Amino acid sequence: MILFRLSREHPTLPALEIRALYETYGKGFEAQQYENLLLVRECLEPKILQRLSLTREFFRIYKVADKENLDRVLRDLPYKNIRSFCVCASGFESDRAMEKELGAMLKGAWELPVDLTKPSFTVSVINLGERIAVSTEKYTIDKKGLEDRHPNNRPYFHPAALDPKLARLFLNLARAKERDTIVDPFCGSGSILIEASLMEMDAIGLDRDLEMIWGCQRNLDFYTTKAKAIEGDARRIEESVERVDAIVTDPPYARSSRVYGKGLRELYSDFLKSSNKVLKPGGYVVFSIPSNIDIGRPIRDARLKLIGDYEIYVHKSLTRRVYILRRPN
Ligand SMILES: C[S@@+](CC[C@H](N)C(=O)[O-])C[C@H]1O[C@@H](n2cnc3c(N)ncnc32)[C@H](O)[C@@H]1O
Repeated sequence: MILFRLSREHPTLPALEIRALYETYGKGFEAQQYENLLLVRECLEPKILQRLSLTREFFRIYKVADKENLDRVLRDLPYKNIRSFCVCASGFESDRAMEKELGAMLKGAWELPVDLTKPSFTVSVINLGERIAVSTEKYTIDKKGLEDRHPNNRPYFHPAALDPKLARLFLNLARAKERDTIVDPFCGSGSILIEASLMEMDAIGLDRDLEMIWGCQRNLDFYTTKAKAIEGDARRIEESVERVDAIVTDPPYARSSRVYGKGLRELYSDFLKSSNKVLKPGGYVVFSIPSNIDIGRPIRDARLKLIGDYEIYVHKSLTRRVYILRRPN
């Protein structure tokens, strides 16, 4: 069992991202949500779970205990070869009081010292409401890399660049995994390609703007990725690449990046039709566009199946709508 502490950035996307990751790796997904905590029965490797962009931390759960038998469950924890321990509580009326009470109880039972600064064993107790989850394996999602790759920190900056956190989210929602071929047909300065490549995918970017391709390649090389940016048109992806496993992109919104096409709706429509030509059956297309543009008809015309669409508020004059589409088998 794994317990995820979701970020509160969006009401549904954090849990959806986790579900997509389980699906990508062919795992079952039996889950129960308690506010921003998601308890999933099946396990996935911590290395894979580190890919999550909208989760703060996760715990491998030893047991979910009733309040009455919590002391016994804790005393029975396999605690061999440890020198000291500490208890870390969350979600209780007073976490500190809970830590003090349980720490004192275990100190007596185990005859080991409590060490709050460098314990060799940490016991986490997380309140789920009716029951309490107990864990001795806590993993914090490493967000430092995402900060290092923020558009402001790259050698080539473009104001329309996608936040790396969203780039990761889109790739996860597209069920993309290691060695998959991913194409970003509106690659711009490369946010999606950088993340895809660091997640060990084969990433190819297309753009019509030669300066963007040059800047994008500079960014890709800076993070020592193997991804390539080439000149190409998102309305005719089939002219640049053959079969791909997923298409993940952030098309222009006609604000701070150029539009090569007759208009936004037509550009999106042609991009979707072209996506169908290169995407493997069952493959996903994930992208976001301004929420006020209706692309229901273009999606149907492109013979892609709408799996879901979700709004992300950006600021007063922009709300993105994230689309998850799938090419039927
Ligand atoms: C919003 S930007 C992409 C932002 C990108 N996600 C990033 O992180 O920089 C859109 C890009 O699409 C490119 N573009 C516009 N029309 C295009 C077309 N028909 N084919 C390929 N690229 C196009 C623009 O030159 C621009 O670089």
